Amino acid sequence: MMMALGLLGVLLTPPVLGQVHHFYSGFMSGDSLYGVEFNEQSSALSVFYNGTLNVSSSKWIATDISQKNVYIADGDNVNYIVSADTAPFTVFGAPYSAGCPGQVISVGSSGTLESVEANISYSSDSGVHGLALSADSRFIYSGDDMGGSIWTHSYNEATNTVTKLQRLNVSGNPRHLVVSPQASFVYVILEENNQLAVFNRDSTSGLLTGRNKTLSLLPTGTTRILFGRQVQSDANHSHFYSAYSNSSLYWSDEVKFSNPQEEGKYPKYLFATIRSRTSTDPGFVAAFALDITTGSINNRLFLIPTTASGGASNSISPAIFSEEYFTISDAQNNFIEVWKLGEDAQTATSIAHLDVADSPANVVWVN
Ligand SMILES: *[C@@H]1O[C@H](CO)[C@@H](O)[C@H](O)[C@H]1NC(C)=O
Ligand SMILES: *[C@@H]1O[C@H](CO)[C@@H](O)[C@H](O)[C@H]1NC(C)=O
Ligand SMILES: *[C@@H]1O[C@H](CO)[C@@H](O)[C@H](O)[C@H]1NC(C)=O
Ligand SMILES: *[C@@H]1O[C@H](CO)[C@@H](O)[C@H](O)[C@H]1NC(C)=O
Ligand SMILES: *[C@@H]1O[C@H](CO)[C@@H](O)[C@H](O)[C@H]1NC(C)=O
Ligand SMILES: *[C@@H]1O[C@H](CO)[C@@H](O)[C@H](O)[C@H]1NC(C)=O
Ligand SMILES: *[C@@H]1O[C@H](CO)[C@@H](O)[C@H](O)[C@H]1NC(C)=O
Repeated sequence: MMMALGLLGVLLTPPVLGQVHHFYSGFMSGDSLYGVEFNEQSSALSVFYNGTLNVSSSKWIATDISQKNVYIADGDNVNYIVSADTAPFTVFGAPYSAGCPGQVISVGSSGTLESVEANISYSSDSGVHGLALSADSRFIYSGDDMGGSIWTHSYNEATNTVTKLQRLNVSGNPRHLVVSPQASFVYVILEENNQLAVFNRDSTSGLLTGRNKTLSLLPTGTTRILFGRQVQSDANHSHFYSAYSNSSLYWSDEVKFSNPQEEGKYPKYLFATIRSRTSTDPGFVAAFALDITTGSINNRLFLIPTTASGGASNSISPAIFSEEYFTISDAQNNFIEVWKLGEDAQTATSIAHLDVADSPANVVWVN
């Protein structure tokens, strides 16, 4: 059965102040949208907008490159939205349902949604959970969790047409993905395998030309890490020690670049998050240092527990005002935190915590 992808464009004007930043949060269920202010000096978080939308479920949200519009998925399992960074700033959406195509939605000059112009077609066994565009918006990459594939389609902005180019079968449940802005790599979260897979990409044809490497997103060793504290091993916790090599206790979810602060510069970091399937064990956040010339991974900076399991979310949203801050959304205990990288990015800590009434899906920073 096909599922309708409803997208609602909301034009928002948050207050703009010096060291004060703003983001919006969508929710797994319900009809609310939160606007949250983050004060960089005091690390305080406060709600400045608590709106009720005419939607059945707000779920995943996205913003455009101007940060003047927030796009909100309306409907069950409308799980991913991405807005092109190049004119005419077309919006793409993926409803997570077997055989359901993705949608290409035209926008007006102020960013308002107009109409569905084309489908991004997959296979009847496909269920796409993540979308990514190349920096030039000429290629669309889809993480097909149900169909075990990564799809490449070309997109023609002038004619609003989409052409299927490649289906690459990849085991481990490809979920969310990003294309390096330098163009040579696509980074893919393998949800079930708890791995980050790196694919080589031909920037002219857009095709994926093979796997470059695969990195584990789980700790190794025998020390149970309990909600931010390192606990000495002892015989009474053998279940938890072995849990770290037990991938079935986790499901990885998100991959995002940090946002470079100077025009023409490339990201320094790649972040990934891992959800725990139990409420009693934390999820994880990982950071990798990137080679800023090629976009390849130099090394892993850290892999540390989040402050709760993450529930169905644990999504990460790197700040747009700095490469050192990001949010984590927790849908188990229902909160949003702001985290900050430590000295030379060897670790990160939660510096601000906001409890919310419902389960947050993801957030988008607007300034
Ligand atoms: C937002 O509004 C809802 C419904 O009016 C309310 O239940 C909730 O407590 C409010 N949240 C905040 C942080 O003000
Ligand atoms: C809410 O959305 C529905 C469906 O899109 C529409 O028919 C209805 O008029 C909207 N209601 C309001 C109050 O905007
Ligand atoms: C997209 O595909 C659906 C069937 O899945 C079809 O009804 C619709 O007309 C298509 N839309 C476009 C713009 O091609
Ligand atoms: C990829 O997977 C699909 C669905 O299982 C299958 O039909 C197709 O033959 C596979 N392609 C390759 C190249 O293995
Ligand atoms: C991975 O990418 C690096 C950087 O471009 C390249 O030097 C290396 O040969 C690639 N490895 C594989 C296995 O493709
Ligand atoms: C392990 O559990 C037993 C029984 O509850 C207890 O007596 C013992 O002190 C525990 N060992 C450690 C190292 O905590
Ligand atoms: C891994 O975890 C699953 C789910 O809790 C459990 O059923 C399985 O026995 C565990 N496997 C090992 C080797 O501990």
